[in-house]
Amino acid sequence: MSVLKVLSYVVVVSLFYSCNGVVSQKSNEIAIETKTEVREEQQFEHALKIAERQLKLQLKEAEKANKIPRTISKDGTIHWTNPKFDWTEGFYPGSLWYMYEYTNDETWKNAAEKFQSLFENHKYKTNSHDLGFIFNCSYGNGYRLTKNESFKDIMVTSADSLLTRFNPNVGCIKSWDVDYGWQKKRGWMYPVIIDNMMNLELLFKVSEFTGDSKYKEAAIIHANTTLKNHFREDDSSFHVIDYNPETGEVRSGQTAQGFSHGSSWARGQAWGLYGYTVCYRYTKNDIYLKQAEKIANYIVNYKSTPEDGIPYWDYNAPNIPNEPRDVSAAAITASALLELDGYSSLSYKSNIDKIINTLSSGKYTAKIGDNKNFILKHSVGSIPHGAEIDVPLNYADYYYVEALLRYQALKH
Ligand code: GLY
Repeated sequence: MSVLKVLSYVVVVSLFYSCNGVVSQKSNEIAIETKTEVREEQQFEHALKIAERQLKLQLKEAEKANKIPRTISKDGTIHWTNPKFDWTEGFYPGSLWYMYEYTNDETWKNAAEKFQSLFENHKYKTNSHDLGFIFNCSYGNGYRLTKNESFKDIMVTSADSLLTRFNPNVGCIKSWDVDYGWQKKRGWMYPVIIDNMMNLELLFKVSEFTGDSKYKEAAIIHANTTLKNHFREDDSSFHVIDYNPETGEVRSGQTAQGFSHGSSWARGQAWGLYGYTVCYRYTKNDIYLKQAEKIANYIVNYKSTPEDGIPYWDYNAPNIPNEPRDVSAAAITASALLELDGYSSLSYKSNIDKIINTLSSGKYTAKIGDNKNFILKHSVGSIPHGAEIDVPLNYADYYYVEALLRYQALKH
């Protein structure tokens, strides 16, 4: 909660109660609220300590293999990222950078540098939109914390590669190439997925680094086109919009990782929320703030999400309540809401507290030494692809640690 919000809350509540002569009731309520906040602060601090211990154990395994952990395979072993290219490869060094930020211990910094260097040459890849995810979460955090100029150069190169996928006729960065792999079978021409909103932060940053507005301009056009075409009446979003690359016309709204074309894939909603919050951070354009608020409203008020705030993998999954939850969606949402809460006149505090409380409970946080030392359990990669169902994921851990640190920063 922003300081302004807390102060105005205290002033309004104080005035109300003193005017009504119920000062002792007021003191009781404030005392209860303070107690709850202190308990939560202690619990979230404890959650960071657990995260630190798990990541320390996981680092030993990663060092031995000299590979980046992504999830757990069906046979129970660590599934490492594909060294040729993997959209999740930036999250692990990103978590190591967060540990460096948390502890100030150089061991984490050295490890983060080492693991991100394993994929540095992917900065030249032009066949994927995931460069924003990869380089912002790793080198982006590294630059934020160390101001190492070489990290900045790597981010600029990766942003240049990402920009090669921007088509002005469409007004979007193309997500997937369609001439190979499973995407080829779908008959798409120019698929753009809601996840792609997460690649824009790299572009905004690189415009700031270089003073060249072309990166930011592409990000803004992409965000505007997505806002126009990806969202439905109820503020949920399609996963994939396929465009005609010559005319920019929408060919179809579909899904790849959700239950159906018309359904609302949980992680996709979280990516949209996070992405528009970041767009507001860099532009202060109210259109993005409103869009983030609309998505937040959809997520936090969704009727079939269980009381603990962790959504099913798709809001319209057919067998709710007998469907896997997606912890990664919850972790991304918690982190995004923590930022959005600082911009919005609405308060998301109770939703944030609920999600983080739940994630830090034994139901979702693994015991130290279990879960191949991933922090969180029960995420979903892609049910339609039969991949990574009810497993830990390195990006669930990344956004969870980010959320815990954002929470901690607000309290100090
Ligand atoms: N960008 C891929 C995913 O969210 O699964």
